[in-house]
Amino acid sequence: MLNIALPKGRLGEKVYAMFEKAGFECPELMEPGRKLIFDNPDRDVRYFWVKPSDVAIYVERGAADIGVAGKDILMEYRPEVYELLDLDVGKCRMAVAGPAGFRDREDRTLRVATKFVRITRDYYASRGREIELIHLNGSIEIAPILGLSDVIVDIVETGTTLRENHLEVLETIVPISARLIANKAGFKFKTEPIQRLMKELQKEVEAK
Ligand code: PRP
Repeated sequence: MLNIALPKGRLGEKVYAMFEKAGFECPELMEPGRKLIFDNPDRDVRYFWVKPSDVAIYVERGAADIGVAGKDILMEYRPEVYELLDLDVGKCRMAVAGPAGFRDREDRTLRVATKFVRITRDYYASRGREIELIHLNGSIEIAPILGLSDVIVDIVETGTTLRENHLEVLETIVPISARLIANKAGFKFKTEPIQRLMKELQKEVEAK
């Protein structure tokens, strides 16, 4: 049985459609309800819905053999997993954003609010820019408005959230997309189905 952790939500549904097409279907998964674990013995698969930021934890610890996680999570937490394939969905970017026309003053420490502590530290360290990091858990966009920070580092997809809060992208740090990941031991013991799935997913990505 191949155990697969999927990120709950729109991205997970998109990804499941790809898995289904690849021959790893589990029809019950898309039925409305609050159940979180689904088996399809005919295909030897078990799926479970988890919080997107938790997928890598399930995979790293072997509770799932494979899963789908955003590159942002992989960069931020660096879980010990194999990154097998870029699924080319869930595309967005990690960016520095601030009030329109914001100019960084080199003589002052830059105050940066973010959920992504490691990505932010690494980015500014690589530029030799000293910052004061303010670790928030959500609603990051309001930090500059309230004067809590000068800028933010966050995910930008359509740009709507920034626009509606009168902020704009100042710098793009890295493009993000969803990745197929595997537990290292699981990959060894279940190589055949994982590679079969990978091959089919790869075809779907190329056909896009
Ligand atoms: C992310 C991010 C922004 C928003 C950007 O939040 O933190 O708030 O998406 O998307 P947009 O450019 O299309 O407006 P998400 O919805 O992932 O939820 P979160 O606040 O829990 O991170």
